[in-house]
Amino acid sequence: MFIPNDHGAHVGAGLKPAPTLHREPSPRPLHGGRLRQAAARYGIPLAGWIDLSTGINPQGWPVPPVPPQIWQRLPEEEDGLREAAADYYGTPHLLPLAGSQAAIQALPHLRPACCATLVTPSYAEHAHAWRAAGHRVREVPAEGIEAALPETDVLVLIHPNNPTGARFERDRLLAWLEWLAGRGGWLLLDEAFLDAAPESSMAPFCPRPGLIVLRSLGKFFGLAGARVGFACAEPGLLDRLDRMLGPWTLAGPARWAATGALQDRAWQAETRRRLTGDSERLAHLLTCRGLAPSGGCALFQWIETPRAADLHEGLARRGILTRLFTDPPSLRLGLPGSGADWERLDAALKEVIYEHTRSTFAPSPSGGGLGRGNDQACPERSRRKRSRRGRGDLAP
Ligand SMILES: Cc1ncc(COP(=O)(O)O)c(C=O)c1O
Repeated sequence: MFIPNDHGAHVGAGLKPAPTLHREPSPRPLHGGRLRQAAARYGIPLAGWIDLSTGINPQGWPVPPVPPQIWQRLPEEEDGLREAAADYYGTPHLLPLAGSQAAIQALPHLRPACCATLVTPSYAEHAHAWRAAGHRVREVPAEGIEAALPETDVLVLIHPNNPTGARFERDRLLAWLEWLAGRGGWLLLDEAFLDAAPESSMAPFCPRPGLIVLRSLGKFFGLAGARVGFACAEPGLLDRLDRMLGPWTLAGPARWAATGALQDRAWQAETRRRLTGDSERLAHLLTCRGLAPSGGCALFQWIETPRAADLHEGLARRGILTRLFTDPPSLRLGLPGSGADWERLDAALKEVIYEHTRSTFAPSPSGGGLGRGNDQACPERSRRKRSRRGRGDLAP
């Protein structure tokens, strides 16, 4: 049940905690990365897949062998992780988490029932968590935020947005924060995909009242399996979150690997450069195939097309997993890792598009239709030709 919010001075004052019992559970959000499911469904062995269904860096931080005592001892707070994270994120006001997902689920339980505004489309776990904790959830397009603000207690933004790549100017974010904080509200920024553009992070503004910034080691660092993330916020809120999550939420080996990754400035600089280049290459490859992305960031590109489901299916039948969205019909593609993966993606796109050419693919809203594409202008084709010439391979 939604407890109406009083729009007076301090949101939350005198309100009951968000009711969480006896609610109809909403369907659990779908995610990319379900490669085993895809392998079973399409009858292609795991090793035959290219997984582009997540925005995870395919060349993640190379984790060295974990010393035996790290496996054996209980994790200790004083192991250097906090210091490494404070240095990397630009604020000491942070809490290590078992993935930023831990905070996404817990934070809604730290407020009385209120109105949370979220942008759609975006990573569905946020809306799911706020709804599940009994809050009223409004989902608006990015252009609708200003209009929704007067009724908003908590504004949740993924920055850059997943999957659209939408970004917001710092001044605007600060203005929204000021408004929300003035009424006891929160600006919750999920910066899971921001590591390639650290200058845009709002984490260094913590501990401003009402500001919460979530970070993840799963994307840029490619350590999604380690389950490491951080919440940056005011000390009082971090303390409540810490108490709620309890001790040893992060495994020792995950803490150890995260500390090394956060300290490795040379790898980070090189990775920023590489990801930015690879993301541009992916956008170009898609554009050459008549699929100009509508948005993206350093870790993925997003294409809107009414034939997204056909494209997803056609690629999956060729062992390439993408992330399909239905509203609006669209696909998110992560970055291929090896040169062979890039070539396979381009060849598969060409085949799928050819297969469907006669079934008239309509142009996408961004102007990029699923047409024949332009083989001549496509960099993958020239790359293949160059490397064949280099190998003396005369195959056409
Ligand atoms: C926008 C966004 N935030 C948070 C997460 C969760 O990340 P973590 O691995 O840190 O829990 C994801 C996972 O895909 C995501 O896309």
